This record gives sequence, structure tokens and C-alpha cells, in this order.
Amino acid sequence: MTFSVRPYLPADEPGWLRCRVLSFLSTQYYDDVKPSRTAFDLPAVSVVAEADDGTIAGLLDIEIDGPAATIDTVAVHPDHARQGIATALLDAALTQVREAGATVLDAWTREDQAANAWYLGSGFVENFRYLHVYKHGDEPADGFTTPDGLSAPVIAFLHADIVREAEMRARFARVHVCRQYLRHL
Ligand SMILES: CC(C)(COP(=O)(O)OP(=O)(O)OC[C@H]1O[C@@H](n2cnc3c(N)ncnc32)[C@H](O)[C@@H]1OP(=O)(O)O)[C@@H](O)C(=O)NCCC(=O)NCCS
Repeated sequence: MTFSVRPYLPADEPGWLRCRVLSFLSTQYYDDVKPSRTAFDLPAVSVVAEADDGTIAGLLDIEIDGPAATIDTVAVHPDHARQGIATALLDAALTQVREAGATVLDAWTREDQAANAWYLGSGFVENFRYLHVYKHGDEPADGFTTPDGLSAPVIAFLHADIVREAEMRARFARVHVCRQYLRHL
């Protein structure tokens, strides 16, 4: 199968959503499901890889805030992994990102091997780590406070400093280390 990289078009949304959810399914972002595509307030560069059967095989969205650009989403359909699609998408987007005035590109990801290897192999360096912590319904709510009239939280998603990793892992079953990667443009 061959792929062509081109700008995202509104008609791509169903295929974009399908590609993203299938890509994320086997990662630590498995439950980060979007029912509609992200709308950006700031300027953004959005590209897709279209397979020769018309399906969306990969997608990349980069939001630009002056000199700082951020990868909002990069995802490749699992049936088409390791064929250079994410790399081709990044190459295609970077020209426009630089033209828009960005001088640094960052990205945030958890511990999945594919994502981390891809960022490191694509010229990014790790800059910062913190924790993503999930409190599930069967885990204690000790220490949480809520406004009058609300019970303690049943579930919660929280950020925590990396120095509290051992404590968080002892208390909660689902804890991820989230890394920021940086690439100077
Ligand atoms: C990360 C991701 C976008 C990479 O897409 P891809 O098109 O398969 O990547 P490429 O083919 O461009 O890979 C280029 C290089 O990255 C590295 N890489 C990519 N996937 C890898 C894997 N599973 N294991 C190890 N290294 C990997 C390799 O160095 C690879 O070069 P090689 O194949 O010649 O060895 C894809 O795995 C994906 O969609 N993952 C799920 C979504 C996700 O985690 N997104 C990012 C975080 S939000």
C-alpha cells in the first residue's frame, strides 16, 4: 500500500477519528477517545496520510503559539506502523511550522515504547517529567475535599510532581509518567 501526505480536510473527520482511536487503543492513552476532532483556537498545522484505498492511515496536528509549537496529536493506524508515516507527516508539517515563526516544538507522552522511541529518533530530547494519576472507584478518597453537597470523588484524574511517584504508585493502581519532549527547529 502507498500513502500520500496532504493537509487535513473537514471531510476527513470520520477517518481521522477512526485512525486516532485505533492508534491509541494499544497505548496508555487507550481511554482518550474523542467523538469529534479537536478545534484549535491558535493557528495549527494539520496533515494526514491517506492510503491508496482512501482511508486515513496517519495524522498529525501541531498547534502554534508564537515561537512555541506543540504536537497535539500524532497517530498512525496500527496496521500501517513502522512504515515511516509519522516521520513523513512530521517532515511535511515542519516547513509550515517554521514558516509560522515557531522555533521550538514540544510534545507530551506517557511510557509507550513506540512513542518514546519515535520522539527520540526524531530529534527530540526529554525535558521534563510529571505524573498522571487516576483514582478509580474502588480506591480510597482519603485526603480529597469537595464542596458542600457533593460526596468524595468516585473517580479522579490528577497531576502530581514526579518526586511523589513511589507514594502515588503505592496508593493508586494507574499512574503514568508523562514526559515532555523538545525539539529546536
Ligand atoms: C508513535 C507513532 C506515531 C509512530 O508512528 P510510525 O509511523 O509507526 O513511526 P515511523 O515508521 O515514522 O518510525 C520511525 C522510527 O521511530 C521508531 N519507532 C517507531 N515505532 C517504534 C516501535 N514500536 N518500537 C520501537 N521504535 C519505534 C523507530 O526508530 C522507527 O524507525 P525504524 O522503523 O526504521 O526502526 C505510532 O506508533 C503511534 O501512532 N502510536 C500510538 C499513538 C501515540 O502514542 N502517539 C504519540 C503520543 S500522544
